[in-house]
Amino acid sequence: MTPPALAVAFHDLEPEPSDFRLDVLAGLSKPQKELPPKYFYDTPGAKLFEAICALDEYYLTRTELEIIRVAAPEIARLMGPNPLVIEFGSGSNRKIRALLERFGRLAAYISIDISKDHLLEASRDLAKSHPGLEVIAVCADYTTRLDLPEPKDPAAGRPLGLFFGSTIGNFTPLQAHRFLANGASELGSGGAMLVGVDLKKNKAVLEAAYNDRAGVTAAFNLNLLERINRELAADFDLARFRHHAFYDEERGRIEMHLMSLASQEVTIEGEGFVFAEGETIHTENSYKFGLEQFQEMARAAGFEPARVWSDPERLFSLHYLVVP
Ligand code: AVJ
Repeated sequence: MTPPALAVAFHDLEPEPSDFRLDVLAGLSKPQKELPPKYFYDTPGAKLFEAICALDEYYLTRTELEIIRVAAPEIARLMGPNPLVIEFGSGSNRKIRALLERFGRLAAYISIDISKDHLLEASRDLAKSHPGLEVIAVCADYTTRLDLPEPKDPAAGRPLGLFFGSTIGNFTPLQAHRFLANGASELGSGGAMLVGVDLKKNKAVLEAAYNDRAGVTAAFNLNLLERINRELAADFDLARFRHHAFYDEERGRIEMHLMSLASQEVTIEGEGFVFAEGETIHTENSYKFGLEQFQEMARAAGFEPARVWSDPERLFSLHYLVVP
């Protein structure tokens, strides 16, 4: 007998589909060549990212998870009864589970993600292990202003947004401001948001996290070129590019690049792209914040920073922001 269909309500807000081919050709035509980091996460890329999260040097994931575990009971108290939990990006199931295990009843759990397959899989998983929880999956681009669906529960408490993983660090300062300002307006007065934010720290610790000895981050970065070869008509020679990641103290960000090891020409969809020896493709920024620097940004976007948790080593932070 086939099991009954699982009760996940699905809302497709039909996000603008992104155009890999156009973005690659445009990004590699700029004076400083660049590729958007969102393209890291194809199937092999998502697997490599999982492996990064388990690395010794990559302290972010395990530190955030531990902070969530410690802070959850207090967050539940701050939120009051029957909160409506909304996650921006259906990220790691472990983090949402760690939070929900320490919460009482929820009005509903709404998961927003641009990748329909990942979203549905993660939502069904959660519905399966939490019978009685209303799970609502929303396929949408959470960097735009959204109208969130209403839960069935007429007695829903206050809304709590979740934005884990220091994903906010991938945004430019302007994009981060816009994301927070949209969030404050979507959640409304009395709503709250939890944001996981990686902290500024010793350069050697930061650089090790993006230059692991096992070479997983290098493989993750180089997978972008393999993906271009796989999905477009392209002939990148992976042996002639190398992973390059460093911390720019002034800008407060890790930059990831792919550096050309030779003077060479690569063909993509019939178009030639010339690389000088040492020239790079900029593939990612990962901003790091001071505690007060992040709180200041949250204030400017319409939140009141109400509480912040960190680990004893001050590696990572979890910010509880409320909409006044
Ligand atoms: C998923 C954006 C938080 O910036 O640390 C990990 C991605 N890149 N190693 C980060 C990433 C290289 C990660 N974020």
